[in-house]
Amino acid sequence: MMRTNLNRIFPRLLLLTAALLLAPSCGKKPDPSAAAPDSSTAPRQEEPVLNLYTHRHYESDDQLFDAFTKQTGIAIQVTSASADQLISRIKGEGEDCPADLLVTVDAGRLCRARDLGLLRPVDSPALLAAIPPALRDPAGYWFGFTVRARVIAYATARVQPGQIKTYADLAAPQWKGRVLVRSGDSLYNQSLVAAMVANEGPEKTTAWVQGLTQNLARKPLGGDRDQIMALAQGLGDVALVNSYYLGQMAQSKDPAERAAFAQVALVFPDQDGRGTHINISGAGVATHAKHPDNARKFLEFLASPAAQQVFPATSFEYPINPTFDTSPLHRAWGPYRPDSLNLSKLGENYPAAMAIIEASGW
Ligand code: FE2
Repeated sequence: MMRTNLNRIFPRLLLLTAALLLAPSCGKKPDPSAAAPDSSTAPRQEEPVLNLYTHRHYESDDQLFDAFTKQTGIAIQVTSASADQLISRIKGEGEDCPADLLVTVDAGRLCRARDLGLLRPVDSPALLAAIPPALRDPAGYWFGFTVRARVIAYATARVQPGQIKTYADLAAPQWKGRVLVRSGDSLYNQSLVAAMVANEGPEKTTAWVQGLTQNLARKPLGGDRDQIMALAQGLGDVALVNSYYLGQMAQSKDPAERAAFAQVALVFPDQDGRGTHINISGAGVATHAKHPDNARKFLEFLASPAAQQVFPATSFEYPINPTFDTSPLHRAWGPYRPDSLNLSKLGENYPAAMAIIEASGW
């Protein structure tokens, strides 16, 4: 496997420009003139190569890349950077773009890529059978292969079980000065807000974001792991984080992370309401892919039971089908009810979400 990291190459300015240029709306039809033929009609003879542009940064992926190569003889070349950088690069490279598959950790970014004409539909009965409809694009432009839940972690020394149950609680006066969360620049927060706009409308969502930002224990700083570390340090009492970070910290080589994990518990929010907000890691085949059939094979491999079992064990993400989940930690946390919102709705609600976040200064 070959790996290139674009983060060293791309200036931050480009990221900002990309964010401004890319207007997402999954409801919009992609430009048909930009669409390449369906991968099912693509030539069958392809060299045994697959070029991945990926935002993911997990050990599970390296394991799976090697397993796929062993199984199929198809070598994987990896270019990694943020989703916005990769989308911008695919757009700039046009027909010469070497990417076969765009892999991101957020359905909203896949919606954007689709709307920009950067993805082509894939016709695969295997993918339709393996992946629930809410976790894939209705027209086959992208497919989820892991699920991540945005949960509330709390310091067990200062918060009792049952004291916090909902996302709405995070904005309630009781939690003033006690809430830890990363910045509104984060995809994870943007998608949560986009889902709220889809479910509750912009007015209620605006009030929630304002309430949340008024309750912060400190100025947003760092990523989700840093919020859990801050809980353990007593800098706040509750934190909004993706569930897999807790799993990764439980198994961390760093004793400080394991110690922090031991001081927190988690709540799956909104179990009596819409269910906990989830997002996916997902992928779509590039419009100008040179190896679309290899890309489809890799997607089918990711959705297979053998690959699905790797995620809960190594990255602590949830598999797309709960029956594949053998993680003792997930079992200890118990089953939870996810929000049933079709994730293709995130893209179309993203502009409203961004306006709300920007106005709040989050
Ligand atoms: Fe993450």
